[in-house]
Parts: sequence; structure tokens; C-alpha cells
Amino acid sequence: MPTLTSPASAPGVAGEDGLSMPRILAAFSCALDLTEGQPLGHAERCCAAGMNIGREMGLPEPELQDLYYALLMKDLGCSANSSKMYHLLGSDDISAKRDIKTTDWTRANWESFEYARNHLRRGGTFLARVRALAEMGAGRVRTARSLVQLRCERGAGIARRIGLSEAAAEAIYSLDEMWNGSGHPQGRRGEEIPRLSRIMSLAQSLDVFYVTRGAFAAEEMARRRRWRWFDPDVVRAFQSLVARGRFWEQMDRARENVGGLSPRAASQPAGEAQIENICLAFADIVDAKSPYTYRHSAGVAGAAVAMAQTMGMDERDITLIRRAALLHDLGKLSVSNAILEKPGQLDRAEWEIVKRHPYYTYEILRRVPQFELLAEIAASHHEKLDGSGYFRGYKAEQLPLAARILAVADIYDALAARRPYRDAMPIEKVFRVMENETPAKIDGRCVEALKHSHPRAEAFTSDLLRLSSSVTSHRQPSPAVEPAHAASR
Ligand SMILES: [Fe+2]
Ligand SMILES: [Fe+2]
Repeated sequence: MPTLTSPASAPGVAGEDGLSMPRILAAFSCALDLTEGQPLGHAERCCAAGMNIGREMGLPEPELQDLYYALLMKDLGCSANSSKMYHLLGSDDISAKRDIKTTDWTRANWESFEYARNHLRRGGTFLARVRALAEMGAGRVRTARSLVQLRCERGAGIARRIGLSEAAAEAIYSLDEMWNGSGHPQGRRGEEIPRLSRIMSLAQSLDVFYVTRGAFAAEEMARRRRWRWFDPDVVRAFQSLVARGRFWEQMDRARENVGGLSPRAASQPAGEAQIENICLAFADIVDAKSPYTYRHSAGVAGAAVAMAQTMGMDERDITLIRRAALLHDLGKLSVSNAILEKPGQLDRAEWEIVKRHPYYTYEILRRVPQFELLAEIAASHHEKLDGSGYFRGYKAEQLPLAARILAVADIYDALAARRPYRDAMPIEKVFRVMENETPAKIDGRCVEALKHSHPRAEAFTSDLLRLSSSVTSHRQPSPAVEPAHAASR
């Protein structure tokens, strides 16, 4: 069985060659793409588009640096309004977020009616849908503002927490403002909107149209929406790049080139504190998606660290396990709240979607070559020793101790953690449930270690929550009935 013993085998800890901020943030930007219903690589392509436009406009280097990070992290607040959006629309938040980007929602026209028709109370009765359409129409502006405000405030807050500049945080805050003043959250107009936000706004629309409808449609969209959505100078810079060729080709090659687009890529090694902050911030982004994942990533990390210490692991391995635990459900950002918060049992197709989330965790984390082992451990948290788990059906010999610890910590938090809407399961019952799973499915040594250390797990969890609390205050979920099977999703 592979073990974690040699320091050299513990990447995901600072000091590894080439572990730079651009590389880490480019990889993590893919988690944000998932929540927005965009194909992986959306933020990287926006980065390529926006950086080319910024250079064409002659932005000085420090401003280009801010633009680079703001483009990659533009959707940091994405999970904050997912649950609200789901409850408002009564249907899949991810496809709703995807389609809003190609809809001209500023005008009460056929396009915006079609959007509402496709996303409001799907599966509901005709009457319920008509009523929802009317309500949505009446409160369109107020509703849009409150949804955008949630994500902007949270996005800017997280940007500051992970060490981005104030200019980058401001740019993220004002991403959804529009040139003619009809955007959100403040309805700023023209040059009141930060220049970086104006570039980002065009860059993200260009990518969505380019990917779904092609280059010509994207160019037409930019031309039609200038003066209304977009700064005409930004559109002009884009048009002159297109006229000289290679603009779209550079977007196609964004993934290989994204590191090189940063003005100072080579001089930005990621330090321990930055890596830790990024892990805490993304754990918080995952947990904010739904009331049912409230504090879950921190809870799993607290339990995993308590077990690892009790089992005598060294500091380096404990750091790796803590980070893998914080990030284990990163792929859950790909799952719609319509599934995460479904009141009844999931059907087969919904389960298949849920079972893909560790795969996405793996795909995102392995984009940082130094995170290969961290990715393996994080993505193995639903595997079982007898091969009955997912997503790869690994068996005991393929599951290192760190992965076994994480699997036990995940079950423990799902059962034992108190949620705002329900009490914790009594601890004796939690361990009875887990012991029934040993030795066939989970490692009895890990369960035993947790029995001795669970009071410390609570303390570690509180420490982690305190550390991440300056990201933004946790949204207090409204009381609800927990969906059947929520604990095991
Ligand atoms: Fe999971
Ligand atoms: Fe989990």
C-alpha cells in the first residue's frame, strides 16, 4: 500500500519548484467555471482575451498585473448566490447561469422571455410557471441586483483575502456594471466603472459567444452592445486586434499560454501562507454553495488533521492532508443546487452527476503539476476498500493512508456535524454507523484514531473557520429539511 512517509512525496506544500501564483490560480479558476456552467478553461480564455485587449489599450504593467488576476478570479463570488438562484427559479442554477450570459436580459424582448420560460419552475404546472414569470417580470431589476450584489461583494472579499490587490478586488466587484448605467450592483455609468471591469466584461462575453456560437457571432455581439453594455474604446481595441488576426487563435491556446500572459509570471512564487489562504478560500466557496454543505470542508479538514496527528504523521504530511481535505469537494461546484437541495431521493441520472464530483476535483487540482498527490488524495474521498466507491472504484491496495483518513473524515462530518437546520447525531451513534462499515469499506484504524481524537477535531475545525472568516461572513442558511441522502452525497 502506498504511504506518505517521504517529504519528497508530499507536493502541495510550498517550496516545490515552479509553484507560482499564476499557475495555481489558473487551475483553480476552472472550479469557478464549473459553478458558472462554463466549460473548463473559460476564465483562462477570458484572461487571454482581456490581456490582449489591455495591452492593445496600452495599460501600464502594474495595471496589467491586476487585470491578469482579476480575469482569472472574476467569478470568486459565484457560489454565494447559487442556492438563492435555485430557490428563486425553482430549477437548475447552473444552466440558468450559463444561459444568462448569452441573453440580452436588459430588454423585455423575446430573448429574455425565452430565457425566463426555459428556466422558471421547469416541471411545474402551467399556472405556477405563468405566475412565476409575472413575478419575475415585475421584480426583474430588484431581483437581478440582489443576486449580483451577493456575488460581487463576496467575490471582492475573497479576492482581498487571497492577497489580490485592491484594484483587482474592485474590478471583480464591478464586473457586472454596464457602460450605460443599467448594470449592477451600483448602476455605475461610463468611466465611473473601473477600467479593468470594462475590459473583463467584454472579455467574458466574447468567450461565451465564441465558444457557443463562433467568432463572427462574438464580433457581432460586441459591435451591437457597445455604448450599451461595453465601453466603446474597449470594443475598438478588440476590433483592431481582430483585424490584425490571431485574436481567436490566442484564445484557443489560452490553456498552454496562460502562465506566460502574466506580466511578472516568473517572479511570483506562491508562499506557504498564500497556498493556505487559497485552500481556505476555495473550501469556503464550496461550502457556501448550499446550506447542506455549510462548514463541511472545514469540518472534514478538522477531523482529518485530528486523525493524522493521532496516527503519528509528520507535519508535512499533515499539511498535505489538511489541504486535500479542504479541497476534497471542489468538484461539487459542478453539481446544480437543484440536485444538492432536492427534497427527495435522487434519480439515477442525478446520482451519476453527483458521482462525477470527485473526478472534477481531480481534474482541477492536477492542473498544478506539483499538486498531483494532493489531487489523488482529495479525489479518493468516496472510494471504499472493497472497490464499491466512486469515481474510480479503487480497492484497498490503491488507497494510501491519507485517502483512508479523508474518507473517514468525510463520513464523520456528514453524520456528526451540527447544521443550522438540524442537531448533530449523537456521537455514540456516529461511531456505531462507522464501525458497521469496517473493515469492508473503511479503515478501522482511522475510525479508532478518530474515536480518541474527535474532541480535538472540533477545535481544529473552529480554528479553520476562524482563519477563513475574514473571507466574508458565512451566509446563515435558512432552516430547511435536509434532503434524504444529503449526508452521503
Ligand atoms: Fe464528496
Ligand atoms: Fe465531502
